[in-house]
Amino acid sequence: MQTLTDATTEVFISKEDKYGAHNYHPLPVVLKKGKGVYVYDVEGKKYYDFLSAYSAVNQGHCHPKIIDALIEQSQKLTLTSRAFYNDQLGPYEEYITKYFGYDRVLPMNTGVEGGETAIKLCRRWGYAVKGIAENQAKIIFAEGNFWGRTLGAISSSTDESSRKQFGPFMPGYVIVPYNDLSALEKELQDPNVAGFMVEPIQGEAGVVIPDANYLKDAYELCKKHKVLFIADEVQTGIGRTGAKICCDHFGFKPDILILGKALSGGVLPVSAVLASDEIMLTIKPGEHGSTFGGNPLACAVATAALKVMEDEKLAENAMKMGALFRSILSKELLGSVPFVKEIRGMGLLNAIVIDKDEDAEKALKICLKMAENGLLAKPTHGHIIRFAPPLIINEKQIKEACSIISETIKSEYF
Ligand SMILES: Cc1ncc(COP(=O)(O)O)c(C=O)c1O
Repeated sequence: MQTLTDATTEVFISKEDKYGAHNYHPLPVVLKKGKGVYVYDVEGKKYYDFLSAYSAVNQGHCHPKIIDALIEQSQKLTLTSRAFYNDQLGPYEEYITKYFGYDRVLPMNTGVEGGETAIKLCRRWGYAVKGIAENQAKIIFAEGNFWGRTLGAISSSTDESSRKQFGPFMPGYVIVPYNDLSALEKELQDPNVAGFMVEPIQGEAGVVIPDANYLKDAYELCKKHKVLFIADEVQTGIGRTGAKICCDHFGFKPDILILGKALSGGVLPVSAVLASDEIMLTIKPGEHGSTFGGNPLACAVATAALKVMEDEKLAENAMKMGALFRSILSKELLGSVPFVKEIRGMGLLNAIVIDKDEDAEKALKICLKMAENGLLAKPTHGHIIRFAPPLIINEKQIKEACSIISETIKSEYF
């Protein structure tokens, strides 16, 4: 009988298939180890990780300083709940608020909880400060948004497969096209609008980058109409696009900032919502919380993860390596491989767009071949392949990864 230690890829996959819910469709690799920009499968094969757990592993797999913080804190105290104070939360709150320039933070766990928290906070502010009549508050979202899988999140989704047979949905949501200021301005006329929640770059929708003026102008429009600008930077934050947060590129500070994923370097689910006193203090004791939110282990890990990002200048590296990535692949592929329509991105959040008229499985086939050739990435929205390696990647590694990507794509054409 096969034991766990000599189990092959197929054995692990068949166990997931037999005992797990079928709510994902992973590539057929079974990973057992990660270090830096690399992951290793159960057969011992090494891959470049160009997904980074959807931008959660920005600091690289098992970063020694983050793992040290995890081990050290896990041997002292992991969870108290917020029924008591702990000696990690206050220092972490001071660190993260100063780091991002906000008055206060509300700690949660997953990204989607960060989104839910931001919306509750925004609604509360709408009633308590803006003066919206009870139960009338509206939040505007952009088409193509993705912020998770709770009922609150899928209620704003425009992706049919996320919503079908999960209704009824949350009221008080308004959807406008992304990157369309006049549509936004029209909805902002409604005095019941409390907030506009948006990803600065839409990650899941396929690394969709708006016009250069969109975000700042949207922010100004929100100001004009006394509406809060909520930036969902769960994927774009923590250095991913070449700045602390993506909004920094556009010269404004969102009223509410949601962070998650790389806030723990991919070690634990840690998310955070940051805002001013005026917004944050509208929520009073007992009105919101989470058993694990603000736990001492998460606080120690998140502090270490942010320090790594600063000490190793990961945002700067993402900026440089991202530019190199796009320039190499544009030279190699654009024009010479007709089904490659576009190479786009910011920092190390990039995508290759495959012609929609190609075979619907083309992007998936390319990802399967890239895996064979030692690089992991996944299609998003069928014809778009997202490339988001850990931000610690160096020039030699980017060049090697680009040659795997371009050789694989060329082999699909020539
Ligand atoms: C922009 C954005 N917001 C929120 C989320 C939800 O995060 P989580 O899966 O940790 O709940 C995601 C996840 O991919 C995301 O990309």
